[in-house]
Amino acid sequence: MSSNRTRPDDPGPYFDAHVFVCVNERAPDHPRGCCKARGSEALRDYMKSRAKALGLNKVRINQSGCLDRCELGPTMVIYPEGIWYAVKTEADVDEVLLTHLVEGRRVTRLMLTPDQTPAKLAKEKLAAKG
Ligand code: FES
Repeated sequence: MSSNRTRPDDPGPYFDAHVFVCVNERAPDHPRGCCKARGSEALRDYMKSRAKALGLNKVRINQSGCLDRCELGPTMVIYPEGIWYAVKTEADVDEVLLTHLVEGRRVTRLMLTPDQTPAKLAKEKLAAKG
C-alpha cells in the first residue's frame, strides 16, 4: 500500500528519515510484553549515538510509545519508507544504520512484514504447542 497524500507543491521534508524506536513499558506480567523489557531503551541510546558518529544529521532517531507489534519487539519503524524492523542487538542496530539509512538498502533478515501481526503470532505459538 502506498500513500497518495504527497502533493507536488508540498515543501521538502525537514529530515530525510525518522526512526521511531518503541520504548513502551508494561507491567512484567502483561501478556503482550513490551519493548522496554526487551532492551529497547539501550538500543535506542546506542542508535542515537551511532547515528551521530556516522554524521547522519538528516536522520532523526525518536523514541515512541507502543507501536502495537509488541510481541515482535523490540520494534522500530523508519519513515518515510514505512519499513519495520525487529532489532535485538547493537549489531542489529549497526546493520540497520549502515544498510538501510546510509546505503539505502534493506536488512531483510530483521524486517517485519505487514502480515506479521500479534494475532498471527499468537496462533502460531498455540499451534507449536500442539
Ligand atoms: S511495546 Fe513496543 S510495540 Fe508495543
